[in-house]
Amino acid sequence: MSEILADEPSIVERILNHIDRKTTDLSEGIWREPVEHYTSPQRFSIEIEKVFRRTPTPFCPSAALPEVGSYVARDAALTPIVVIRGSDGIVRAFRNACRHRGVQLVQGAGCKKVLTCRYHGWTYGPDGALRGIPDEYGFPGIEKAAYGLVAVRTEEKHGMVFVIQDGPEIPEAGYLPDLFGPDWKLFTAVEQEIAANWKIVAEGFLEGYHIRSTHQDTFYPVQYDNLNLVENFGRNSRISFPYRRIEKLRNVPPVERRTAGMLTHVYHLFPNVMVATFPTNMIMTVLEPLAVDRTRLVTYTLSCIIGHEEGRAAVVQGRDFVTAGAAEDREMACAAQRGLASKANEVFTFGLFEGAIRHFHQNLAAAIATI
Ligand code: FES
Ligand SMILES: [Fe+2]
Repeated sequence: MSEILADEPSIVERILNHIDRKTTDLSEGIWREPVEHYTSPQRFSIEIEKVFRRTPTPFCPSAALPEVGSYVARDAALTPIVVIRGSDGIVRAFRNACRHRGVQLVQGAGCKKVLTCRYHGWTYGPDGALRGIPDEYGFPGIEKAAYGLVAVRTEEKHGMVFVIQDGPEIPEAGYLPDLFGPDWKLFTAVEQEIAANWKIVAEGFLEGYHIRSTHQDTFYPVQYDNLNLVENFGRNSRISFPYRRIEKLRNVPPVERRTAGMLTHVYHLFPNVMVATFPTNMIMTVLEPLAVDRTRLVTYTLSCIIGHEEGRAAVVQGRDFVTAGAAEDREMACAAQRGLASKANEVFTFGLFEGAIRHFHQNLAAAIATI
């Protein structure tokens, strides 16, 4: 996996110790985040400019682009972007706008060998080159090479496609484990818009203090409440949520203990992507900020057992289970958003169980403080 994260036997050991002692990982201190940071349109613009556009951000899993011409188009940091796999196998990203009069070329996801603008029919290759102009004699002297789609920096790494809009940095080598190997295939992709600030939505993924209270009939019967491991690496975190059946590993020699099927890892990839592991699938959720009080959730379900019917049935079951819990999280996010209007709180207080949220806000503050 990775040198930066604990190995499986030590993860299991730490969890079994917490079960015995009725403890959980604790952070170094309480964190107080000004509520204004969730409501201020000015703060929102700064987050888009200084954080989202300058950070290598996971855009979609590689598995969403399986073939030559596979594309995914959506807004990232309020900018329409399309990523597309070229005939050389390389994924490229472009600003999603025709070079004639700016019409968006594609929407959603699909597969096209040629991108044709609906307005006047200019065509582009998956490498972004302008290929054809209908009745080209109307544009005398136009240099086609200068009218290719405008490229955005991109990199395919760790089983994901990263987009970097304005930032000077490229993804730090080795800052992440390879989350999806080549066997992981895309099962479904779902988009939802939710009436909440993106940080409120993110925070819901980053602690297990709400398992019993929020997920009474979904996750709580199979998972522990408020029993988590929190590992921070770079600006990212990994939070482990153990299942009750992890107890079975007490009978397994420590070096042979494996975590698969015994817990969920949630990887928070700074700033806005969550990758969660489940027994039959993995879920990658992109929290795309649309406005200070609106977020689009793009949820990709991947699996490596969808090649046969039995596997697919198991994946559907696993996904539906997670979907029920995720709906409860969205409910809480919307309720927290509505609570903002009460002006009851000047700060939100994150306790010692909410250390991954503290890490998130510390890094957000640091990114915003840079010139
Ligand atoms: S705007 Fe695309 S061809 Fe005219
Ligand atoms: Fe939750």
